[in-house]
Amino acid sequence: MAMKVALLGCGVVGAEVVRLLNEQSTELASRIGTPLEIGGIAVRRLGRSRGTGLDPELFTTDAMGLVTRDDIDLVVEVIGGIEPARSLILAAIKSGKSVVTANKALLAEDGATIHAAAREAGVDVYYEASVAGAIPLLRPLRDSLAGDTVHRVMGIVNGTTNFILDRMDTLGAGFAESLEEAQALGYAEADPTADVEGFDAAAKAAILARLAFHTQGVTAADVHREGITDVTAGDIASAKAMGCVVKLLAICQRSADGTSVGVRVHPVMLPREHPLATVNEAYNAVFVEAESAGRLMFYGAGAGGAPTASAVLGDLVAVARNRRASAAAPEGAHDTGLPVHPMGDT
Ligand code: HSE
Repeated sequence: MAMKVALLGCGVVGAEVVRLLNEQSTELASRIGTPLEIGGIAVRRLGRSRGTGLDPELFTTDAMGLVTRDDIDLVVEVIGGIEPARSLILAAIKSGKSVVTANKALLAEDGATIHAAAREAGVDVYYEASVAGAIPLLRPLRDSLAGDTVHRVMGIVNGTTNFILDRMDTLGAGFAESLEEAQALGYAEADPTADVEGFDAAAKAAILARLAFHTQGVTAADVHREGITDVTAGDIASAKAMGCVVKLLAICQRSADGTSVGVRVHPVMLPREHPLATVNEAYNAVFVEAESAGRLMFYGAGAGGAPTASAVLGDLVAVARNRRASAAAPEGAHDTGLPVHPMGDT
């Protein structure tokens, strides 16, 4: 029997999630062991199917009614912001649904409440898309490094500001025109103040710190934050003259005695030969320094509809597999039988 998915929000990311769910339905069904079916899409206003090609009947403005419907198994939240997202996610969890969310603001402010509710209800909450778009980063921190001690996480986690700083540095472009371009490309938040003042990066830094240091005690409010609005063309030129580039970095660090963590977001002058200095456009990159693993670097597309939808879909497959519990598809269960081709033959 198909698993039914409720989608909350159908903007840049939501529409891409629908497209991928439709286009890859056979593959996804095979990987999960059961088909996924869209049971409904909650939007603020009805009247258009947003280019999804879906039956208009699937769209509703009654998000609470949708997430608590008995036939819905999984909920994907891509509306963002604190409310109504928090109430909807909590209601979905209480009615036994696993949740996939891209909501960094909510997780950074009140992740503890969401996770406690999920533990109590015995359901999953996955949120890979909330930090660094397509880059698999949160599950590696949570799962792959669960046996290690992370000392520091540092990186570029906001695509919009990286895009703006890159355009200012390489093309001598102005701040406002670069921001407009980032908005047109679908990278910026609905209110781009969240990007340029560092709120978005601070929320992501809080999520990274919580996972890296296994603490529920970090929220966005605990993050020291400076954005890029005070970075001038003159600053960029001075950095250039010194062989440096300006980047907005998120830095999460365990104290030397290991008893506390510091989390901050601010512009940094990086020598051009530093690996983070070469991260251009809206790309993100994150260094993780762990006791046994040493230095790891995660790099990829940090913003935009398709990359973010990729992370959402990955989480959706994971929670759907978990829901099938004992029937979860173990590695190798879905074997396409693709043969290895001879070297050089692509
Ligand atoms: N506005 C965000 C960014 C989107 O520019 O990185 C991805 O979280």
